[in-house]
Amino acid sequence: MMQPTLIADQTWWVGLNDRKTDLFEGLWPLPRGVSYNSYLILGEKVVLLDTVKVTMAGAYLAGLDRLLNGRKVDYLITHHLEPDHSGSISLLRQRWPEMKIIGNKKTAEFLREMHGIEVDMPIGDGDALELPGRTLRFYLTPMVHWPETMMTFDESNGTLFSCDAFGGFGTVDQSLFDDQGVPAWYEDDVLRYFSNIVAKYAPMTHKAIGKLGGLGIKTIAPSHGIIWRQDPLRIVRIYDRWSQDQWETGVLVAFGSMYEHTEAMAEVVAAGVRDEGVTLRMYDVSRRHVSYIIRDAWRYGGLILGAPTYDTKLFPMMQHVLNSLPKGLAARRTLGLFGNYGWVGGAVKTMQAWTEEQGGKPVEPIVEVRFRPDDDNLQQCRQLGQNVAQEVKKRQNN
Ligand code: FEO
Repeated sequence: MMQPTLIADQTWWVGLNDRKTDLFEGLWPLPRGVSYNSYLILGEKVVLLDTVKVTMAGAYLAGLDRLLNGRKVDYLITHHLEPDHSGSISLLRQRWPEMKIIGNKKTAEFLREMHGIEVDMPIGDGDALELPGRTLRFYLTPMVHWPETMMTFDESNGTLFSCDAFGGFGTVDQSLFDDQGVPAWYEDDVLRYFSNIVAKYAPMTHKAIGKLGGLGIKTIAPSHGIIWRQDPLRIVRIYDRWSQDQWETGVLVAFGSMYEHTEAMAEVVAAGVRDEGVTLRMYDVSRRHVSYIIRDAWRYGGLILGAPTYDTKLFPMMQHVLNSLPKGLAARRTLGLFGNYGWVGGAVKTMQAWTEEQGGKPVEPIVEVRFRPDDDNLQQCRQLGQNVAQEVKKRQNN
């Protein structure tokens, strides 16, 4: 049930928590759910900013009706057409046929193709909707993370409706606002959201953040997750750091293993990383969802990948990891590779080819073993872990 909450003068959060969707975009796990944040300005004119996923439209419309108390929505601002925000537009249009839909040129194209609906008030970058006592100015932020994405800044109270940017996974039951306490897990899940959804276009995110500087933002109201009003620049700083790919001193060891031989190698690689006193994360790619592997590959400066050969090819779950990592990441991380094979190689060769395609260069030694590792092989694995960790420390200090 919607619990409308005042976030600024005459401005209400009218979002909903989704605890039933297991996978965001059918891909990314939601162990703590997700919120769809929609906002309603109840002034002389009524302005709705974004909607919610259509599966929740019943609760959404019932909540809006209670708050509107017979009034109609005059304007709908559509920041982004991905269906988690645009899904209920057709229903809103049926309910309030005179409602003016505001969007940019790309919004118009997508809205027509997705919903068969026209944008009524096309806007460009920097245009504004002037309302009694309130100016809503629009900023186009393409590729953060779709081409039509834009934001709205309420100049009367300093609220930035930032759409997906500055958002995160997780429902907003424990805290709707940052001053109610940011849960310990939240930043991890914001990074997972950023690295899984937005990071492919990290430079565009950085550009958008530059564009917003100097606006005098008092509150950041994203379309997912916590609203930032006590320290709005906290989430901007976090996003800006990630959008510039400022990694932390740490190493992620991601491995696949069929009969524990590659896992034994991974254990020794990890010991080598620990020898250097560097933060370590270690994931079995068959058991840890790739969403978390992408997150920590983005977070840490070192990435060591190890896998067996499976029917002359790379172990499929490791292939899935390589396919899922943001393009070019291999060139920006200190990379290590190890693997094994039985009758014919394939795993290490494929990982090397992937690294080269991305413009990366693995740290020596690249450890490749037939069947199971002997003592010399394990010594090489330890050296690999140490070398990657040392290189990460060196790069961080430069
Ligand atoms: Fe939250 Fe890109 O949709």
